[in-house]
Amino acid sequence: MKLHELKIGTFVAPVPLIQGGMSIRVSTADLAIPVAECGGIGTIGGSGLPVKELQADIRKAKEATDGIIAVNIMFAMKGFHELLIGSIEAGVDMIITGAGFSRDVFKIGKEHNVPIVSIVSSVNFARLAERLGAAAIVVEAAEAGGHLGTDVLLRDLFPDIRKAITKVPLIAAGGITTGAEMAEIMMGEYGADGVQIASRFVLSDECSVSQEFKETYLKAQQKDIINVESPVGMTGRAIRTKFVERMERGEDVSTEKCKFKCLKKCSYKYCINDRLMASCTGDVDNGLVFCGANAWKMDSILPVKEIFRQFVEDAEAAYQKPEARNQKTEDRHQKLGKRSETKTPEDR
Ligand SMILES: Cc1cc2nc3c(=O)[nH]c(=O)nc-3n(C[C@H](O)[C@H](O)[C@H](O)COP(=O)(O)O)c2cc1C
Repeated sequence: MKLHELKIGTFVAPVPLIQGGMSIRVSTADLAIPVAECGGIGTIGGSGLPVKELQADIRKAKEATDGIIAVNIMFAMKGFHELLIGSIEAGVDMIITGAGFSRDVFKIGKEHNVPIVSIVSSVNFARLAERLGAAAIVVEAAEAGGHLGTDVLLRDLFPDIRKAITKVPLIAAGGITTGAEMAEIMMGEYGADGVQIASRFVLSDECSVSQEFKETYLKAQQKDIINVESPVGMTGRAIRTKFVERMERGEDVSTEKCKFKCLKKCSYKYCINDRLMASCTGDVDNGLVFCGANAWKMDSILPVKEIFRQFVEDAEAAYQKPEARNQKTEDRHQKLGKRSETKTPEDR
């Protein structure tokens, strides 16, 4: 059976796969373009970028492809509004937003005819997003990378939200690394309309992070993937690096002066902008390497085209097997190391 397309607003992605936005400068136009060319939705991570840099990246992507280009902006960012308006002015196709909840964003999206996709981790916020006019909703579960809004696993979280959301596409995110898992979550009891996948795309030729960043993914074992405290006030999932070990030992890892003033609320425990950029540019020892809970399962760097080919082929093959409908992957039983005690940002 063929995978169905994913319709968001007036946009139609032939492959129901959103490449998850990854800040800062992990998912740039270089990654979003081949994803869009393959029929998915290519997402530029917009949080923490200067508006002009983000606009230039959006224009680069829009000139290079007729596919769908989105921008992901975290509501927790101080420059949220400027990045949102700047992205729309630069001609982005849709906005994907999470890490907090903005009511205004739906009005702005409507005014400019730009679909807004909400990332949520609870039934209540999924309902609210649908009511306020989200064009699609991403359910981001505990297995996701970056900042986490819940400690509930995808296969436990998704069904309740599926029951509550009937009017707009519902997309599953967190820990999906194969086409078989994509098929599992899109059929039978789960019934997702699409998936959002990020970590698998870090290990692509086109992802612009340093080779050291990718090597850290390749070397990581399950025990190296842990929850860390983020100055954003949420738990983040990352690979244990020397910097993380320093935090675990209780060392002072703060910076003397805040250079970026990027967050609405910052604990100043360390500079997240500096630490993410350090790993992106190759200084992994001093950096933070965000990843999904299942990043340890991946062992190859591939071209985006090949990643898509494998996802689509494996998902469509799994669709044909009726027994796959009841398949429960090991993820359901997998213990996520240290569980987050953080409340969802939406609950605050
Ligand atoms: C390196 C990295 C950076 C991320 N940055 C962001 C971000 O800036 N904003 C956001 O909403 N989600 C972010 N995420 C979450 C992803 O967009 C995605 O929803 C999630 O990681 C999906 O799970 P997977 O990585 O297991 O596929 C990030 C994930 C990773 C791995």
